[in-house]
Amino acid sequence: MNYAIVYSSRTGNTAMLAQAIRETLPQENCLYFGEPDSRALDAEMIYVGFWTDKGTCDEQSARFLQTLTGSRHQVFLFGTAGFGGSPSYFNQILKRVQENINPEIQVTGTYMCQGKMPQTVRSRYETMPESPRRTAMLENFDLASCHPDSLDLMQLKAAVTK
Ligand SMILES: Cc1cc2nc3c(=O)[nH]c(=O)nc-3n(C[C@H](O)[C@H](O)[C@H](O)COP(=O)(O)O)c2cc1C
Repeated sequence: MNYAIVYSSRTGNTAMLAQAIRETLPQENCLYFGEPDSRALDAEMIYVGFWTDKGTCDEQSARFLQTLTGSRHQVFLFGTAGFGGSPSYFNQILKRVQENINPEIQVTGTYMCQGKMPQTVRSRYETMPESPRRTAMLENFDLASCHPDSLDLMQLKAAVTK
């Protein structure tokens, strides 16, 4: 089956996931690889990658997902988020992301992992008054700082080839 990989990535985390999918699938069946673009719509299977913005996918990905029509397309969603640690958090995001997809379209799989955030975010947390919330935010920032890691990419590859 031919496929396309589209992704939106501001700081490179989701791009790493897109690249890992590219390395996993047969090159000759790839119709398009890059940022959301109507050229990807020619493919039957579309891998759509997003970064999390305010609890859902970034706007560029949302707009692309909204352009998918009919039952011709199948979609695999992948994404990164600054917060992690609980599958229910990722599931919540994925549910919101799927609200952009026509219900006729089959979502064949999903994958999310944590993605590091810019140092400016940590500096902002540091200016907050001491509180359990501040400590949790700093801890989460530090946990995110090594993601996506090689295990994340392996798990993504496994989800894609399942
Ligand atoms: C403006 C902005 C809003 C964000 N909102 C969220 C959010 O609501 N939830 C979350 O978990 N991460 C949030 N993040 C973190 C990013 O989703 C995360 O770092 C992601 O891995 C970035 O992916 P990219 O490197 O592909 O751009 C936000 C980041 C930015 C810059």
